[in-house]
Amino acid sequence: MKILFVGDVVGSPGRQMVQDYLPKLKQTYHPNFTIINGENAASGKGINEKIYRGFIEQGAQAVTLGNHAWDKKEIFDFIDKADKMVRPANFPEGTPGKGLTFIKDNGVELAIINLQGRTFMPPLDDPFTKADELIKEAKKRTNLIFVDFHAEATSEKQAMAWYLNGRVSAIVGTHTHVQTADDRILPDGTAYITDVGMTGPYDEILGTDKEAVIKKFLTSLPVRFEIPKTGRTQLSGFLVDVDSSSGKATKVKRILINDDHPFFT
Ligand SMILES: [Fe+2]
Repeated sequence: MKILFVGDVVGSPGRQMVQDYLPKLKQTYHPNFTIINGENAASGKGINEKIYRGFIEQGAQAVTLGNHAWDKKEIFDFIDKADKMVRPANFPEGTPGKGLTFIKDNGVELAIINLQGRTFMPPLDDPFTKADELIKEAKKRTNLIFVDFHAEATSEKQAMAWYLNGRVSAIVGTHTHVQTADDRILPDGTAYITDVGMTGPYDEILGTDKEAVIKKFLTSLPVRFEIPKTGRTQLSGFLVDVDSSSGKATKVKRILINDDHPFFT
């Protein structure tokens, strides 16, 4: 079975890339499951119900989040109804939403877990022990488990990958918005990439207006970060083939679509 993951969709340029390229990616790779990280999908910070539903209508079966999950206040109005959306699971007990969900294709179930790192990020519960807990829960239903680990530090992401080696089908890093070239299958059958990269503006800094980011570095003063609506764009993704009974990964592929890496069909 094939799982297609689209990395951090940033603002309307990112959403446009999903609209333009998701049908082409599906036509080319025929994924059984499509998952989108949507934590930056509403003007770079957070997500709203319309965007979440839009992703599902466009063919995603699940949406993952991250540290920006709560930036749009209306998230609290719909997160408990959005059964195909996961927020980082290692928020304290009682936090709205959930960190584990299940999607199904042809009778095969895929568990999706979202976790957030703690290195160079706000304090949260331990993602490693939370992963243990959720994997145990997921295994009662399926061997196919996909983890989006939303984290800043490459060391923490690698540590999580090796910690989960052989226990999940795939673990992908998100959050840093720059695709890493270390896509691989760990020895016990877990697909891994440190960061899938972002989907959105190509000529900006991590998707945000580069002039504002440069100004911030030059002056250290507060600046308003916005997502430019025009300009070149890119899509970053990750494709993994998984054995439908064992849940082990058999093949991985990085996807990067921009003017320097055009998509040909
Ligand atoms: Fe993030």
